[in-house]
Amino acid sequence: MERLQKVIAAYGYTSRRKAEELIKKQKVMVNGKIVTELGSKVSEHDIISIDGVIINKDVKHEYYILNKPRRVISSATDEAGRITVVDLIDTDARIYPIGRLDYDTTGLILLTNDGEFANTLMHPSMEIEKTYMAKIDKILTKEDILALKKGITVDKRKVEIRHFKVKKKDLEKGTSIVEITIIEGRNHIVKKIFKELGINVLKLSRVSYGFLDIKNLKSGEYRNLTIKEIKKLYASAKK
Ligand code: URA
Repeated sequence: MERLQKVIAAYGYTSRRKAEELIKKQKVMVNGKIVTELGSKVSEHDIISIDGVIINKDVKHEYYILNKPRRVISSATDEAGRITVVDLIDTDARIYPIGRLDYDTTGLILLTNDGEFANTLMHPSMEIEKTYMAKIDKILTKEDILALKKGITVDKRKVEIRHFKVKKKDLEKGTSIVEITIIEGRNHIVKKIFKELGINVLKLSRVSYGFLDIKNLKSGEYRNLTIKEIKKLYASAKK
């Protein structure tokens, strides 16, 4: 069971905040009855309608993996009119990204119109490993590497770093390319980890998400997830 406004947003109908307004305006019905309470919970079997139109009937679920380019926003719509990850995918379904990558971050992002799938993957208990390649403005010292391997505290919460490796060093420019694997999904988390050590991330790309990677996708390219991949992602959630 999930909160009604969250489910409406998960179907891609509108944002959670706007869904709350619609509920307050008594425009939302669940199983034919007007709902006025914001905290109401619904299940996937409940029929939700807005202004008399059912929003969750015959929804065919779609699942995509995209290699997000830079200067693309990770949301379904953008008030500033910037290109979104959804704009890059040729579908009429109301899909949205699962989690976020920053505007200037590239790499692997999943999109779907399946709210249950998205919520499952984003749940912290899932512990999906995400690997990033980062270009940073420092040649790391032994102490830096030790600190990273121990885990860095960001906003009073320790980030578990599952794997860390320096891949390249440019001694002249004083920059390095590093690979870092975390299970966290907090916004800007990789940049914040390095910020704690006084280091700036110059470039960032997510190269893998669990068992998925983007080796076969060029920037801006996408494909459907296979049934096998979807099942495998769900299976890792049930553990
Ligand atoms: N961490 C960041 O700092 N940015 C991203 O886009 C993803 C993870």
